[in-house]
Parts: sequence; C-alpha cells; structure tokens
Amino acid sequence: MDAFITIQNLSKTFHSHDGDVEVLKGVNLEIEKGDIFGIVGFSGAGKSTLLRCLNRMETPDSGTVRIGEHEITALDKKSLNHHRQKIGMIFQHFNLFDSRTVFQNIAYPLEIAGKKRSEIRSRVNEILELVELSDKAKCYPGQLSGGQKQRVGVARALANEPDVLLSDEATSALDPQTTLSVLELLKNINKRLGLTIVLITHELEVVKYVCNNVAVLEDGQIAEKGSVREIFLNPVSDTAKLFVKINRDFAADSWVKEGEGI
Ligand SMILES: Nc1ncnc2c1ncn2[C@@H]1O[C@H](COP(=O)(O)OP(=O)(O)O)[C@@H](O)[C@H]1O
Ligand SMILES: [Mg+2]
Repeated sequence: MDAFITIQNLSKTFHSHDGDVEVLKGVNLEIEKGDIFGIVGFSGAGKSTLLRCLNRMETPDSGTVRIGEHEITALDKKSLNHHRQKIGMIFQHFNLFDSRTVFQNIAYPLEIAGKKRSEIRSRVNEILELVELSDKAKCYPGQLSGGQKQRVGVARALANEPDVLLSDEATSALDPQTTLSVLELLKNINKRLGLTIVLITHELEVVKYVCNNVAVLEDGQIAEKGSVREIFLNPVSDTAKLFVKINRDFAADSWVKEGEGI
C-alpha cells in the first residue's frame, strides 16, 4: 500500500490533578492518499487527541506522524505553521468567528497565509460556489442553520487547498438530514479534489455512508482496521462488536420486523 499518512508508535499521556491519563498507547496506522478513512471509538477513547496529533495541535509524547514527504512530528515551529496550511480541519461545533461574515471566515486562513487581497477574493468566491453558499457571503454565522455553518467550516478548511482534511465529529451536532448533506459534500470534494479525509466519529452510520476504510480505537490502541465492509460483516474487537450491535438494534428495519410479529 502506498501510505500517505503514516502514524507510528504514537503515545500521549495527560497529567492532571486526579492522576495520569494514558490516552494513546502506541498507535500505528497507515492511510492511503485520496482515501476517506474513519476512526471510530467510544467517547473518551482518544479520537480527538489522535486527530489533533496529526496537525500537532496536540504534541505526542513519543512516536511519529508523517504526511506525504514530511515528518510532522519533527518540524520546527515555522515549518509547522507552513505545513499546517495544507491540513484543513473541521469541528463538531464549527468554531467559526461570530463577528466575521461568511466571506471573512473563509478568508481568514488565506490572510494568515499572507495572500493578496485580490487572490483572497477570487479564492473565497470559488469555494463559496463549491459549498453552495455564494448567496450567504455577507451573512454572519448567527444567521445560518447548523448545516450552513458546517459548510462554512468546510469552506474555511479548504481555503488553502489542503492535501488532508481532518474531521472531528463534524456531523455529530447536526440532524440526520443535514448530516447526509454534509457527508455528501465531503464525498464530493474527496472525489473532485482528490483530498484525503480522516474522519473521527462515534456514529457508525457516518462511517458506513462515507468511509472506505476504518480503524477502531480502543484502550489507546488500534484494536482493528480494514475496509468498512469487513469490519461491519466481521467485527473482532469488543468496541466494533458493540458498535455493530448498537447500529443493528437502532436500525429502523429491525424495529419494523419486530413490530410485524405483534
Ligand atoms: N488537555 C487534556 N488534559 C487532560 N485530559 C485530557 C485532555 N484532553 C483529553 N483528555 C482526556 O483524554 C481522554 C481522551 O479524550 P479525547 O481524545 O477527547 O477522546 P474522544 O475524542 O475519543 O472522546 C479523556 O479521558 C479526556 O478526558
Ligand atoms: Mg472527541
């Protein structure tokens, strides 16, 4: 396999008043270029920590992260800032600037990257079109629905033409219908731009809908990984078995079938 992202022996422990929390205990993972790769695990499993280590918003205690040619964990501060521009990120609660318009939110990373005003204008307009929000350019986040806010989040993450998009529970605060439309958008940009997407979620439906491959994070390690189909049909780890069971129990058709027997 031609790995684009390689995570080796990644470890991270948080120190708090209540004691140490060993969140990542030697995580190893390879992700192909152009993949939509899911990382699932229950709440507190360390998904966000792992994802944040990929752009070094979190510094691991040991281990390495390589994206393309570059070892992210070895970069000095200046090169890190430069390479971070090529790693977009979207969040559960959108993390938009409330006092900036949609246009200004999307322009922000371009301003940080020192782009010229004319270049910023044309790039922002281009992405607004891609996420179908051209008519909302002058609105403030407070005037948008959740789905529209996340589209702005996606647009902002794409501003600097990244190679990788990290998604931290990006659809977890959205209703099912809006979730679908945001996932459609992610699929679309993956296909159109060849963007590698790493998506963490506690919702198996999301993985099923959008990912090709998936890894299960359990007890600070990757308990299993494979194609979404493989994991669904033959879950091996306790986490995956439970995920699949819950997914099945919640599925509307099994409920209807039960109802039919009454
Ligand atoms: N900055 C931090 N300081 C101390 N503990 C933290 C910090 N960030 C996360 N943790 C702890 O690490 C564990 C994993 O958190 P997180 O990576 O957010 O998990 P997930 O995203 O899977 O829910 C949790 O027990 C959480 O409380
Ligand atoms: Mg999280």
